[in-house]
Amino acid sequence: MFQKGLKDVIAVHTKIASVDGEKGELRYRGVSIGDLIATHSFEEVAYFMWTGVLPGESELCILNEKLIAGRELPLHVVKIIDALPADIPLMDAMRTAISAYGHLAFKDEIIEGQALVLTAVLPVIIARHYRNQQGQSIVEADPTLSHTANYLWMLTGVIPNDVQVEALETYLKLTMEHGLNASTFAARVTISTESDLTSAITSAIGTMKGPLHGGAPSGVIDLLEEMETLGNIRPVIEAKMKRGERIMGFGHRIYKTEDPRSVLLRDKCISMSGEDDWLDLATAAEKEIISLLEEYKPGRKLYTNVEYYAAAIMRSIEMPPELFTPTFSAARIVGWTAHAIEQLSDNTIFRPQSVFVGEMVVLDERFHVER
Ligand code: ACO
Repeated sequence: MFQKGLKDVIAVHTKIASVDGEKGELRYRGVSIGDLIATHSFEEVAYFMWTGVLPGESELCILNEKLIAGRELPLHVVKIIDALPADIPLMDAMRTAISAYGHLAFKDEIIEGQALVLTAVLPVIIARHYRNQQGQSIVEADPTLSHTANYLWMLTGVIPNDVQVEALETYLKLTMEHGLNASTFAARVTISTESDLTSAITSAIGTMKGPLHGGAPSGVIDLLEEMETLGNIRPVIEAKMKRGERIMGFGHRIYKTEDPRSVLLRDKCISMSGEDDWLDLATAAEKEIISLLEEYKPGRKLYTNVEYYAAAIMRSIEMPPELFTPTFSAARIVGWTAHAIEQLSDNTIFRPQSVFVGEMVVLDERFHVER
């Protein structure tokens, strides 16, 4: 059986997450995402993804200590990041730094411990290269801050307020895992050769970078900027539809109803409403855009996807668009590492078949290149 892009092919049995596009349901290890993120921190949800159980008080204490210790970059990685030219994009810098981290840095650390260190260190890599790009001095990690708060601190050099931390943490928890997406599949293929975890994460970052996966979230910012005020929604959307353009932040390959991540991010936006005009514009524009899409594309079931409210939230916490995909990766690394652990627990190397569709010919002079 051949399916271009492996569309609808089941390649993995997993206990990590389930995505039901008809019901609009996302569950992490069987638990509804809404229930999980409402009551547990990024650190707790990550532990849950890696191990299948929630940490007790002492486990959480050890986990936090290890995550804080994991923020320290090895000297050779610091030197490599600092040697990168400022115009090297963040995703390239992340891929290079994680690759340079190398398997040997872990000595005898078990794979769950490696997952934890890589999750702790990725935001540090992002912040270091970002500040180098901006010509700003490096902000050292603050051990008194949580994973999310420390990321914002290292990016900006300003202690974030609770609203900013909660908004970003909601996004990080909602996007840390989404089944067998392209980057997670890349991580599983790499680890299935019994390669190492840093190689699997390097593959995943390289895959996440592409515009068909994680590389184009800033399109929603452009859309919201174009609409500016509520009166402009209809003319902006109608002009785009007439030109045959897609409305960024709407539609999803799997979800044919509301994307549950979008619903939860919208709730977050509504709770923050009044903090930022952008959030008000995004929430007010959603209904009107959906009804315009139904007018121009009847029956296609086009609702907001995770990018729509993610962009509004990122904008409200003043996260620059070039940090969107790196930040998405800093969340998704939890899913990548959880899948790598699961793959190794019952491994079979991925080796699908290809069908040769060229012509069978006899080797003759036609194959000799003219010199
Ligand atoms: N705006 C306008 N029309 C749309 C949109 C949209 N955002 N999305 C789908 N359609 C229309 C298509 O034009 C097509 O119409 P047709 O039947 O007249 O040809 C129909 O809906 C079906 O489109 P497909 O491309 O087959 O739908 P698919 O499920 O493959 O696409 C995708 C999903 C790529 C996300 C699409 O909805 C899209 O391009 N959205 C805008 C980009 C975006 O928001 N990307 C972020 C996705 S979330 C994530 O990746 C984490």
